[in-house]
Amino acid sequence: MDVKEAIEKRRAYRCLEKVEITDDLINELVRAAQLSPSCFNNQPWRFIFVKSNEKLEQMKQAMNKGNEWTYAASMIIVVITKKEFDCIIKDREYYLFDTGLAVSAMILRATELNLVAHPIAGYSPEKVKEILQIPQDFNVITLIIVGKKSEKENNGLLNDYQVAIEKQRPERITVEHIYSMDVFNERLNQKVEHKK
Ligand SMILES: Cc1cc2nc3c(=O)[nH]c(=O)nc-3n(C[C@H](O)[C@H](O)[C@H](O)COP(=O)(O)O)c2cc1C
Repeated sequence: MDVKEAIEKRRAYRCLEKVEITDDLINELVRAAQLSPSCFNNQPWRFIFVKSNEKLEQMKQAMNKGNEWTYAASMIIVVITKKEFDCIIKDREYYLFDTGLAVSAMILRATELNLVAHPIAGYSPEKVKEILQIPQDFNVITLIIVGKKSEKENNGLLNDYQVAIEKQRPERITVEHIYSMDVFNERLNQKVEHKK
């Protein structure tokens, strides 16, 4: 699979089934993140790979309503970072940007390995910190839910909207609203109003 194919194939699927998580897989995902670019090569990203039944069970308590589909995760990658780990240039703080780049590489590599790697924001960072003993001064910026896409329409954890959206990628804004040529265009000055 080439990068273009992985970009096209990646989806935030929610109907998951269990898959074996090997050390090789974890090494592959870490490598994808490790080689990502970062400001001054600061590499602000840190990950906790949660895969024991005990911890996966506890992580259910941290999920927001609507994210019950995550209960079928085979692994949860907890992404943490700190502002101080990366460049701060006046109002530009690069820790979240650079961590996002690393997460993107990791997600594409997981896609290439035929896995679903779905980032979420709907969880309690306080509970995640408590469960995994993460120091308070870290930012838990996302959880990446890892599994295998289920062949079933619903494994019993999805609501009707989530079942429907499995089949069709949520709409994107038009390219005219994403970029302009040579100079700024007022079309770029519109916030997206759409369904998630
Ligand atoms: C930062 C971030 C937070 C997200 N949070 C959630 C979430 O809490 N629950 C969820 O079901 N999906 C979540 N998603 C998935 C998005 O809803 C999804 O990527 C988007 O609808 C586009 O669909 P696609 O990735 O299948 O193309 C999140 C995605 C990102 C990047």
